[in-house]
Amino acid sequence: MRMYDVIAKKRDGKELTDEEICFFIKGYTDGTIPDYQASALAMAIYLNGMTERETATLTMAMAHSGDVLNLDRIEGIKVDKHSTGGVGDKTSLVLGPMVAALDVPVAKMSGRGLGHTGGTIDKLESFPGFVTGISEEQFFSNVNRIKIAIAGQTGNLAPADKKLYALRDVTATVENISLIASSIMSKKIAAGADVIVLDVKTGSGAFMKTPEKSLALAKEMVKIGCNVGKKTMAVVSNMDEPLGYAVGNALEVKEAIDTLNGEGPTDLLTLCIELGSHMIMGAGLTDDKAEAGKMLREVVDSKKALNKLAELVEAQGGDKNAVYNKELLPKASIIREFVAKHDGYVSHIECDEVGKAAMVLGGGRENKDSIIDLSVGIVLHKKVGDFVRKGENIATFHANDEDRLNASLKCFENAYVISDEVVHKDKLIQYIVTEEGVTNCE
Ligand code: URA
Repeated sequence: MRMYDVIAKKRDGKELTDEEICFFIKGYTDGTIPDYQASALAMAIYLNGMTERETATLTMAMAHSGDVLNLDRIEGIKVDKHSTGGVGDKTSLVLGPMVAALDVPVAKMSGRGLGHTGGTIDKLESFPGFVTGISEEQFFSNVNRIKIAIAGQTGNLAPADKKLYALRDVTATVENISLIASSIMSKKIAAGADVIVLDVKTGSGAFMKTPEKSLALAKEMVKIGCNVGKKTMAVVSNMDEPLGYAVGNALEVKEAIDTLNGEGPTDLLTLCIELGSHMIMGAGLTDDKAEAGKMLREVVDSKKALNKLAELVEAQGGDKNAVYNKELLPKASIIREFVAKHDGYVSHIECDEVGKAAMVLGGGRENKDSIIDLSVGIVLHKKVGDFVRKGENIATFHANDEDRLNASLKCFENAYVISDEVVHKDKLIQYIVTEEGVTNCE
């Protein structure tokens, strides 16, 4: 088989066979197929699409291009949650302890974040001493003992996707639903969980900007998961404004702690209850969604979930006192307010600008070698629909460097749109997608 012929076939809009797709993935992973041929095929797929069968084959070929985790050493049904990413998304920090407090095992391998803030494991490193590079032995033993471990990704999970995603990133071939769905699902399948709950974001801070595209991606991923025997469902949730108020690693950890104390933002708790309900239903605790929501609220009210976070932090070498005393978390040295220039209603928040402003402060990675500053970030005080007076504080900036702060404030100039009209806010939970079909929550 020749890669040239595979490229030409897809260029001409024809359907690739399973053998052709596996030939490409194997050759690209082992380096016998060069980047320039892989780029050409990615562009041909981008332009001509893939059928359901081609997408499923590509997913499985990438999932099996490296290690496939065997979670049999963990007792019970293993549930994984994945978010397509957004600004201020700290759900894993809240959701993990809530679900584990109900004795559902949370065995989470997370990557480090690229972009506006770090990923979950970067955020967890805000706890002094917290170790994300724990051994496999300790990972499994912690999950069995306290029902939760969150570690940096080890091993060689879906290396074909790693290579192909990096290539797509620089060849303008990311935004294709089949390619995105197979990329995400290959990693989820290799990560070994029995049940997969997906949080597909939609809006200005998501890479799928419209509900239609997000819904199509959600449906495609649910189909792939169910076809390979994993119980899979997706929630399409609004990312037209940051989730909660805090954007920045330690600041997000503080907000997660507030939420587990019952004092956090409503949108964050609502999303965690929604996703958590599907997780615990997937694990077989109940098949009644209202009951699932009640169980999750109870572990927040009783502080069981907060104490579970403290157990997680302690089990991975961190200072659990920081869960109960937020003063022990990293703090920035410069605090500055960003005030409104006129009265009005917040009609729009350009999420990407908020994310960029947090990254410029040093809270996110511009490239994979950047070192992030865990203490910096932005705490918003106004969300879409809120009224704001001229001179009122819209956002508090936490910084460690005046130059970065000034650059960040400049980025933030275009983040808020204030209008005279009262504005309608889109619903947080927009669709629920299961194997059975789609529920429109509007
Ligand atoms: N995230 C992924 O992991 N892959 C994509 O293709 C896009 C987003």
